[in-house]
Amino acid sequence: MESSMCILILCLSAITPAIRARVVPVPPLLQNYEKPSSNVIFDNSMYGLLQLNNGLARTPPMGWNSWNFFACDISETVIKETADALVATGLADLGYVYLNIDDCWSASERNSQDELVPDPKTFPSGIKALADYVHEKGLKLGIYSDAGRFTCQVRPGSIYHENVDAKLFASWGVDFLKYDNCYNLGINPKERYPPMRNALNATGRTIFYSICEWGVDDPALWAGELGNSWRTTDDINDSWASMTMIADLNDKWAAYAGPGGWNDPDMLEVGNGGMTYQEYRAHFSIWALMKAPLLIGCDVRSMTAETLEIVTNKEVIAVNQDPLGVQGRKVYVSGTDDCLQVWAGPLTGHRIAVVLWNRCSKAASITAAWGALGLESSTSVSVRDLWKHEDVLTDAVASFRARMDAHSCEMYIFTPQTVSHSEV
Ligand SMILES: *[C@@H]1O[C@H](CO)[C@@H](O)[C@H](O)[C@H]1NC(C)=O
Ligand SMILES: *[C@@H]1O[C@H](CO)[C@@H](O)[C@H](O)[C@H]1NC(C)=O
Repeated sequence: MESSMCILILCLSAITPAIRARVVPVPPLLQNYEKPSSNVIFDNSMYGLLQLNNGLARTPPMGWNSWNFFACDISETVIKETADALVATGLADLGYVYLNIDDCWSASERNSQDELVPDPKTFPSGIKALADYVHEKGLKLGIYSDAGRFTCQVRPGSIYHENVDAKLFASWGVDFLKYDNCYNLGINPKERYPPMRNALNATGRTIFYSICEWGVDDPALWAGELGNSWRTTDDINDSWASMTMIADLNDKWAAYAGPGGWNDPDMLEVGNGGMTYQEYRAHFSIWALMKAPLLIGCDVRSMTAETLEIVTNKEVIAVNQDPLGVQGRKVYVSGTDDCLQVWAGPLTGHRIAVVLWNRCSKAASITAAWGALGLESSTSVSVRDLWKHEDVLTDAVASFRARMDAHSCEMYIFTPQTVSHSEV
């Protein structure tokens, strides 16, 4: 590892002395998963200390959420048409089964029994009827509330109403709850989020608990025993600046994620128009590698062919859904502002998922040295390109290099053909 790194640094400095190169420091590995051949850089030592153990989220959830495209402009018609579209486009068959309604589904007052009420104008048939419709299509229904006095759009929140609300959601057949953080009365999230976990559990219905605390109090450190996923950052928006910043913030918590509980860098913006095809491809590749929930955030009733191509890439989805469940991370950076990046994570079968990501403003080559991936430099590796859907090399040794346009990425699976003694 040492020697291949040196060779790379020398080689880069020979090209231009201005290029900096460094290995991102990562803590040592403590193994509690199938031993991958690359075992020094993919630390997941914090995983499993906190486990909700409700049987869900063995792999990251996949589906759709209304907020990024529709915001408050939702209705039962939109949700039903989205259910139809998830099935018709084949997205449901690929695993996108959660159909999650975000804020604005409820009326602004509780009823005389202190229960939440679906907005009579936009959801006149009620949520139970919608859940039945969605379930009939083989999908699951998600709903939204808030660990505070009000939701962000000022509908009633669930604080101090956890039991009555959880019971109602369960009686409707809800499968997923996104639980937001607005109007939180300044109460510590470690006090506000457990009551809903307990209330959901007490219903006896298995409901995915998605904690949306915006990363304010570092939820990776405590939310694993409460939820199946926890937001690590503020809301994403449909821009390159937001997407890259959130990827970096989420990366910090990689060691805490695993089957049962995942870091959540927020929903996908792919298809909403604010980024280029290549930027959206990078967004999807990195989210998949980071074992993020893959919740589509565009209008799936009218996707372009490019959007559909991105979100239906089976090989990229398979990386996200790999049962090993170790979050991939940034393992090597170089270039101005560290804009040339190698991200990687181990997969089952001793394979490694690798993303080469050019975040610079010009085309560039990026090299993944085996040392940065935890491989011995003599290991022979076959390389499959997940966007071209082809094997590009059968016997790469020591390093792999590719050139790509600004803001583009390439994604690969590296399969070591030989395992040397030091790795066994
Ligand atoms: C409730 O919690 C227990 C203990 O963690 C767990 O075994 C059980 O599956 C949970 N039930 C539901 C419905 O979430
Ligand atoms: C989107 O997020 C970026 C990064 O946080 C921020 O600079 C920008 O102002 C945001 N744009 C909008 C429209 O909120």
